[in-house]
Amino acid sequence: MTFQPTNFLIVDDDESLVKVFERLAREKQYTYEVARSGQEAIDLLVQKPFEVAVLDVMLPGFSGIQVLEHAKKNRIPTEIIMITGVGTIESAVDAIKKGAYDYLTKPFDDITRVMLLIDKAIERFRLMKQLHRLQRQASDQPSFEGIMGKSTKMQEIFSCIESISGTSSTVLIDGESGTGKELVARAIHRRSPRSEKPFVVINCAAIPENLLESELFGHTRGSFTGAVSDRVGLFEEAHGGTVFLDEIGELPLALQVKLLRVLQSGEVRRIGDAETKKIDIRLLTATNRNLLSMVDHSEFREDLYYRLNVINLTIPPLRERAEDIPLLVYHFLSKCSAKMGKQVDKVSLDALQALQHYSWTGNVRELENAIERAVVLATEDTILARDLPSVILGASYQEEDEKQKDLSHYSYQDAKDRALMNFNRTYIGELLKTSNGNVSVASQKAGMDRSNFKKLIKRYNIAIDSFRDQEELQ
Ligand SMILES: Nc1ncnc2c1ncn2[C@@H]1O[C@H](COP(=O)(O)OP(=O)(O)OP(=O)(O)O)[C@@H](O)[C@H]1O
Ligand SMILES: [Mg+2]
Repeated sequence: MTFQPTNFLIVDDDESLVKVFERLAREKQYTYEVARSGQEAIDLLVQKPFEVAVLDVMLPGFSGIQVLEHAKKNRIPTEIIMITGVGTIESAVDAIKKGAYDYLTKPFDDITRVMLLIDKAIERFRLMKQLHRLQRQASDQPSFEGIMGKSTKMQEIFSCIESISGTSSTVLIDGESGTGKELVARAIHRRSPRSEKPFVVINCAAIPENLLESELFGHTRGSFTGAVSDRVGLFEEAHGGTVFLDEIGELPLALQVKLLRVLQSGEVRRIGDAETKKIDIRLLTATNRNLLSMVDHSEFREDLYYRLNVINLTIPPLRERAEDIPLLVYHFLSKCSAKMGKQVDKVSLDALQALQHYSWTGNVRELENAIERAVVLATEDTILARDLPSVILGASYQEEDEKQKDLSHYSYQDAKDRALMNFNRTYIGELLKTSNGNVSVASQKAGMDRSNFKKLIKRYNIAIDSFRDQEELQ
């Protein structure tokens, strides 16, 4: 990945805190600026593209909340983390509702948590930026012969294809199922001087063993029962072009010998024919099996293996190039929408994050299927998390859930605040539910003074109406 310097804004009038953030920024090699008032912060946010800002709630002049409101109103993309004292947590919670990324409580007992939060905000900023860019240029994405990929690993594959396409060497393409091996084979052919000649695909696993030999090499009339006429084999048909033998690991041993002979002699002989014919083909093969271990188990001929493996291309699994996922998502989105005549051309951030965190054992094919399904289910122009299969959501939602439950990566103070907030919301919610939203009854049950109970409701922003029966509201 290329190094992207982070542009960081510190907004605080407390010099000791400014120093803490400055040190942190230097350690992380961020470029940064400091604003010591709300007005200065607004001026800087408008002028410069900061990725992340830490913003104190209490500032001279405009408050932190006012700065946040200004930034959101003017669509400034900077992710904002509020800094609050223990006494101003409510305003921080309010700030999150207004679009702040999260908040930090001072004093900071745990600087690791501060750094973690800043890193996560930067990640979100970059994802959002990528999302917006992709939305703008949905049809103009980096691809090589229809293969989408901007990861270093895919760029390496592209440059390898480029450098080998001029030759006639055999290429063994391996990689997990659904990684794009066939696409790569087609790209090699299209980039080669043979591109005007046939590209013939044979899937060794799909043709019954007794028919495969005749498919590959052809036969003469009467050479076996059912051979009612002469037949040209696919190798002959591909003369001058490229043969792609897919799932080569499934080629029976008897045919492995025959294939080896074709490669050694450059000639084919139809079944039942005494004559051989010279052919000029380039052979590409693909497999998702480990051919070397098949060689060890005598299931694949070693001499053939080395003939096929002159050049080896291994296509990496999708989970090892997650940066390609947004690109592929947009590619499949436009492909599927066009196919279904539906205008679905966006993905929500939640959905994109879930897609990026999933492990994709079925690789690009599984992703393509997930997008196709989501386009069918989408009710608007945007794919939402709920349109994705539950296995994909499962992984990311569970992760979030675990994070919520596990307080160990928060400082003592933050963990306590969060636990207390959760406790209060649940407890007050339960009381209001059983009291049908009646504050006097609920406060009595809690053994609390009514006005203190109301303060809690306000502090934790609990909507009393949602606990009242509809008739009572009218
Ligand atoms: N990088 C990519 N860009 C765009 N589409 C892709 C990419 N990789 C794979 N695909 C698409 O994913 C699907 C699976 O690709 P392909 O058939 O080439 O995989 P494969 O490795 O040959 O799979 P298998 O091992 O199951 O035969 C196809 O629809 C293909 O168009
Ligand atoms: Mg394939």
